[in-house]
Amino acid sequence: MTARLPSNRVIHIIVALLIVLLIYFNLPRFTSSRDVDRLLGDINNSTLGFQEIFVVGLPSRTDRRDGMFLQAALSNMRIEFVDGVNGKDIPDKAIPMTFERERMNDASLGSWRAHMNAIQEVVRRNLTSALILEDDVDWDVRIKHQLKDFALSTRAITQPRPGSKSYADSTFPTPPKESSTAVPDISFHFMPNTESPRLSPYGDNWDLLWIGHCGMHFPFEDNPLIPKGRVIHLEDETVAPKQNLWTFNVPFTLKDKYPEHTRAVHHVQEGVCTLGYAISQAGARKLLHEIGLKDVTDGFDILLRFFCEGVNGRKYHNCLTTQPALFHHHRAAGPVSASSDIGDHGGGFREKSSTDMVRWSVRLNADVLLEGRTDFVDQYPDKALNSP
Ligand SMILES: *[C@@H]1O[C@H](CO)[C@@H](O)[C@H](O)[C@H]1NC(C)=O
Ligand SMILES: *[C@@H]1O[C@H](CO)[C@@H](O)[C@H](O)[C@H]1NC(C)=O
Ligand SMILES: *[C@@H]1O[C@H](CO)[C@@H](O)[C@H](O)[C@H]1NC(C)=O
Repeated sequence: MTARLPSNRVIHIIVALLIVLLIYFNLPRFTSSRDVDRLLGDINNSTLGFQEIFVVGLPSRTDRRDGMFLQAALSNMRIEFVDGVNGKDIPDKAIPMTFERERMNDASLGSWRAHMNAIQEVVRRNLTSALILEDDVDWDVRIKHQLKDFALSTRAITQPRPGSKSYADSTFPTPPKESSTAVPDISFHFMPNTESPRLSPYGDNWDLLWIGHCGMHFPFEDNPLIPKGRVIHLEDETVAPKQNLWTFNVPFTLKDKYPEHTRAVHHVQEGVCTLGYAISQAGARKLLHEIGLKDVTDGFDILLRFFCEGVNGRKYHNCLTTQPALFHHHRAAGPVSASSDIGDHGGGFREKSSTDMVRWSVRLNADVLLEGRTDFVDQYPDKALNSP
């Protein structure tokens, strides 16, 4: 017997299948809830949901490179170094100066240039986003979990409500023209429904995420440019007890007005220190324009503040932050003078290594992590209830 030709019926089915496949692959893709989970899940990847992680540091500080590569490895993170710059190697001509003034000190110039080189790299490689860290920082073993909570919080502030142009924070993106605007806190445990982002797990509407700092204010109520919304996360067990929190910014509203173990996410006001920040591609381009090519009159963190707040000849930009920060200074045991190549930290000897405000420090739990254990050392445990 010869093989039978396929019946009409089979041919119809095959044609119908082909048509369905053609339509499927040509339709514009809408973000389904599956995609949303994928994007949020990217925070678990080796670059924490950013496209790259850059660490800025002088090549001569090999001790810090050892430390950073170890911490990154222990956290399943991939980092790349961007060489720090000695300020004295920067010629006058390379420093934008549109009015007569003195050259800034070499330490601040070097820091500005090193950060600008990292930002320039983000623009040059057209990266969708990057996290930029300094080389003496440390973080919690639970960093990915913390960043997931942070992403949900930034979305609550900057992503529109589904199918609309309105936001849960009524002062976002531009506060109304009243002299002062207070808005109710958004509770982390009762988050508004928002549209899922398509580009970044942290939302599609940000220039800079200032998540490593040594001080922040909540936006001042009378500031005409900065949105006022706060996401308040009560009972965040990664937040150190109040007695271990500190800031350069007084009053310390987070500590004065909220309960123990509260985390807040909000827009940037008066940030201090640039221990860690993420930039989007749009943000990186704006930073080159506003901080790379305009007058370098102040330290890099002050220039970032101008950028975020829209002051001193800069436009306003969309910068978010969290208190307490997620990246903090690690202070290794040893001569105190080794703590900084920029400022003069005086003499003396530090007996014990520590990291500001981080409870389960990766650096200080290196032994535990290397042995695959999970009995992490908590640097800042809560006092027992019955202790004085
Ligand atoms: C990230 O990974 C951890 C552990 O593997 C898992 O528990 C968590 O759900 C993941 N988070 C996301 C957002 O996928
Ligand atoms: C991690 O996720 C981000 C955001 O989706 C993506 O841009 C980046 O390429 C991912 N990194 C890795 C190493 O997969
Ligand atoms: C940069 O990336 C965006 C999308 O991520 C793309 O649309 C654009 O064409 C790229 N630009 C260059 C110069 O490659």
